[in-house]
Amino acid sequence: MSDEDCIRKEWNVAAESWVDFVRKGKDYYREGLNNPAAFELIGDVTGLTVLDLACGEGYNTRILARKSAKVTGIDFSEKMIEFAKQEEEKEKLGICYKVMNAVDLREFSNNHFDLATCFMSLQDVQDFEKAISEVAKVLKYGGRFVFSIPHPCTEMIRLQKPEGEKISAIERYFRTTQYTIEWNMERLTRPFKTTSFHRTLTEYFDALHKSMLVVTRLVEPRPTRKALQKYPGLQDVLEIPQSVVIESVKTGTRCSFSSFRQP
Ligand SMILES: C[S@@+](CC[C@H](N)C(=O)[O-])C[C@H]1O[C@@H](n2cnc3c(N)ncnc32)[C@H](O)[C@@H]1O
Repeated sequence: MSDEDCIRKEWNVAAESWVDFVRKGKDYYREGLNNPAAFELIGDVTGLTVLDLACGEGYNTRILARKSAKVTGIDFSEKMIEFAKQEEEKEKLGICYKVMNAVDLREFSNNHFDLATCFMSLQDVQDFEKAISEVAKVLKYGGRFVFSIPHPCTEMIRLQKPEGEKISAIERYFRTTQYTIEWNMERLTRPFKTTSFHRTLTEYFDALHKSMLVVTRLVEPRPTRKALQKYPGLQDVLEIPQSVVIESVKTGTRCSFSSFRQP
């Protein structure tokens, strides 16, 4: 079995427990930290054609559709997409879900989407550079790619500490590695394991640059006072970031300072 097949299998095994975790609001980093920041950055999506990459069971895909976007959600886990489709049957939002690998988006026309999103998933995509180059192809010129990832400076350290314990920055930041996440919090109905990849911010930025996606914004989400009251578990992200949200735009040229020179 290839590495990618193993990762897909992990997500298929995780799917049921993941659905409970996400849909019952137990994912407080999502609710109180990452979604508020990502959706604020994304802004108005009314009428936009949106691709939600590695959409999982579709929680955030549905948020986009409820905000009046025309959304396609893709994920390579058959189980995740099965759960997403079941939800679409219950609440018809016009979302088109497809089992698809993020590294091969040939099924879509080039220059098709106004916006591509990828919520807390690119760190799980083995060939993230290929995925980014595929996104660049299917985006319209001027279209945006907005993705969130665990903060590369803290992601692995967080995993080694019990929830709520203070964390410090990563020691081997420059060492790109594959690592296993043991999802074993009490909030889960069943524990599971998944594989992620630690990469530096430079590697993400280089991949965007290679695909002519120009970074326009970067946000390190912080919890609001209201979110802290509702989700006390967010105390640990007051001083040290848990995630990064990055916005980039398809330009058709590799922007550098010389691109901005006056003629
Ligand atoms: C942490 S979950 C996040 C799901 C969703 N974006 C959300 O916010 O709920 C990561 C997802 O990435 C998907 N994934 C990982 N590698 C992928 C790939 N190469 N192609 C498509 N999906 C992939 C997994 O199946 C899983 O559903």
